[in-house]
Amino acid sequence: MNKFFVTGGNTLRGTVEIGGMKNAAVAIIPATILAQGVCVLENIPNVSDVTLLLQMLTEMGARVRMLGKKTVEIDTSYLCDPVVPYDLARNMRASYYFLGSLLGRCGQASVSMPGGCNFGVRPIDQHIKGFEAMGAQVEIENGMINAKADQLRGAHIYFDKVSVGATMNIMLAATRAKGLTILENVAKEPHIVDLANFLNSIGADVRGAGTDVIKIRGVDVMHGASYTIIPDQIEAGTYMAAAVATGGDVRVENVIPKHMEPITAKLRSAGAEIEEGDDWLRVRRTGPLKRINVKTMPHPGFPTDMQPQMAAMLTMADGVSIITEGVWDNRFKYIDELIRLGANITVDGKVAVIEGVRELTAAPVRCTDLRGGAAMIIAGLLATGTTEIEEIIHIERGYEDVVEKFTALGADIRRVTLPDAPLSKAL
Ligand code: EPZ
Repeated sequence: MNKFFVTGGNTLRGTVEIGGMKNAAVAIIPATILAQGVCVLENIPNVSDVTLLLQMLTEMGARVRMLGKKTVEIDTSYLCDPVVPYDLARNMRASYYFLGSLLGRCGQASVSMPGGCNFGVRPIDQHIKGFEAMGAQVEIENGMINAKADQLRGAHIYFDKVSVGATMNIMLAATRAKGLTILENVAKEPHIVDLANFLNSIGADVRGAGTDVIKIRGVDVMHGASYTIIPDQIEAGTYMAAAVATGGDVRVENVIPKHMEPITAKLRSAGAEIEEGDDWLRVRRTGPLKRINVKTMPHPGFPTDMQPQMAAMLTMADGVSIITEGVWDNRFKYIDELIRLGANITVDGKVAVIEGVRELTAAPVRCTDLRGGAAMIIAGLLATGTTEIEEIIHIERGYEDVVEKFTALGADIRRVTLPDAPLSKAL
């Protein structure tokens, strides 16, 4: 069993280099299946979700080779299996991107129902609606999603709900459909644009990504290419929130400041001073941490994936902050863990009311999900004493070198491997 031990009280100072965006990489890696050639992906984040996807590709017949810590070469020319290995795929959300890419390439795909962070029900009806509109038959049987189509056809699809996953999955399949696909009410996150740019680099014809309407004209073949994944907006935001929470002074490097705007605006309201360069931001707080309200929304709104980190930061703000979750039905599971540390938070449905306290005190806590885990680190940095964080597997799915990066900024954080607890004699 692995745990983090975080001893609070240190102020974060220094520079942190941000890695490639996990949520872009986890779509672009399955997208290499469409290339039927050699793709070189640079700025790949070193996180367990990426390792799992590369393992799935290898088991399906692709040749995968790391060319250094952040660069991977993927050759899907001889990929032959449209079935994604069940045991690997069921534990993560992004495995469902194999549906779109395999349907596009092979006309059939079998992928287990996706896992990933538990925020209540996570339907995939919009993905299925899109595939069916393009002429695919989709069935769910024995925990697998099976899709097939003799020939995908371009279609006009209006999503009932703005969905990152459905937008990307249908984009993938549509690159190889016959004719034009028009997607309306799509997600506009930076990773949607990154996936479109990657697809165009391998020969697809995708226009309008980043706006409300995406048009994809199907092509017959696609080829390999080299592509650099964008920096991780949420990883950067997490270090920025930690810097503001501890009253620190941190420079985040390898970021796209434009992508950070919804986050920088809120951090400024909370009392941060933020300077911007071409690919860096410097975040400082010298005055009081002020209360703010945050409502999460699809891009360009405030990202839901930064909601828990902001809550952790606001546990010690002056006054009462209100956080409203506008994307997921149930993304406040981590709040009980913040309360263990002494935070004063009440949750009513999708609204959390945080009354700032003067002190948090260390306690054993667990990660309920990826960003909830990041919130535990930030709260641990603020708490008096040593906070023991369990179930860090969630954090390691999405944050690369998290101990090294926080340590370099002056945090007291250790990763400890403990023997598993012996089974109780009563069992
Ligand atoms: C992606 O999840 C991200 N995951 C999530 O980040 C992120 O929270 C989310 O987008 C929103 O930004 C990955 O990219 C791997 P959605 P996804 O489809 O695609 C509803 C993190 O921390 N919906 O945009 O699964 C859904 O219930 C992770 O890195 C439907 O109703 O999210 C939700 O309320 C956690 N039907 C809303 O749409 C559907 O068919 C947005 O979901 C699909 C979604």
